[in-house]
Amino acid sequence: MTYRLAVANEKGGVGKTTTAINIAGALAAAGHDVLFVDLDAQGNGTVGLGLEGSYTAEGTSVYDLLVDFDADVRIGDVIQPHEEFDVLPSHIDMFNAESELQTAMRGRERLWMAFEGLDVGYDYVVIDTPPSLGLLTDNALLACRNVLVPALAEDTSKHALDILFDHFDTLEGGYGVDIDPVGIIINRIEVDGEADRMVRWFEERFGGALPIWNIRNRVALKRAWANGASIFGHGETTDMDAEFRRIADHLNDRK
Ligand SMILES: Nc1ncnc2c1ncn2[C@@H]1O[C@H](COP(=O)(O)OP(=O)(O)O)[C@@H](O)[C@H]1O
Ligand SMILES: [Mg+2]
Repeated sequence: MTYRLAVANEKGGVGKTTTAINIAGALAAAGHDVLFVDLDAQGNGTVGLGLEGSYTAEGTSVYDLLVDFDADVRIGDVIQPHEEFDVLPSHIDMFNAESELQTAMRGRERLWMAFEGLDVGYDYVVIDTPPSLGLLTDNALLACRNVLVPALAEDTSKHALDILFDHFDTLEGGYGVDIDPVGIIINRIEVDGEADRMVRWFEERFGGALPIWNIRNRVALKRAWANGASIFGHGETTDMDAEFRRIADHLNDRK
């Protein structure tokens, strides 16, 4: 069985791409077959992982897979290899995908349907999502049903998470599915009283109901990304390795 995980928060800059890459890297380092999917039209994950050529290449892409449903594009046709895991890269055309999917039949279920055509048996699929609650994020949520939520240790996170969890309810009502939050990653934690206060808020609000992981602000995460890899592929050890491994272990327990 493939376990599919969406990494989502409509707020930008909270670490969706960073955590998605490093969770994919931690799972791959533990010996699992992993597919990383970049559903953000900006393609930060794609370019970061060294696939900038795919992002602008002519020919079929994830855009065709989602929008041009009759074109007989299969998911395996657009997957690219990377040294740690396989990647379904984003494409610059994805900027037009939201509006096209708006009027398309089953426009929020395209990725879900696409996975039915995947014949490679990945252990895990990790999907990075755009900073919005549009149709692309909905495609990821409906394809996965399991969602990991990165958030900053800032007051703005409270409002962002209210909106996100309300959106899960809306999708559940509309599609008759369970959208399961898997846990919260408090990301870019700084050593200061404000961050401590917010970490306590997260624990009071979600502790007990959901696991909470703490990722500190670490330049090693940026360095790995700049080198086209997760911290596990980059080979620079940081004190955050263990926390990403804990997340991977938790996913493995749920699988
Ligand atoms: N734990 C961290 N430590 C240091 N820098 C981080 C960390 N998490 C994210 N960043 C940086 O913050 C910026 C936003 O992160 P990103 O993963 O792109 O967020 P999102 O995908 O939610 O927009 C990037 O420049 C990234 O390198
Ligand atoms: Mg991103």
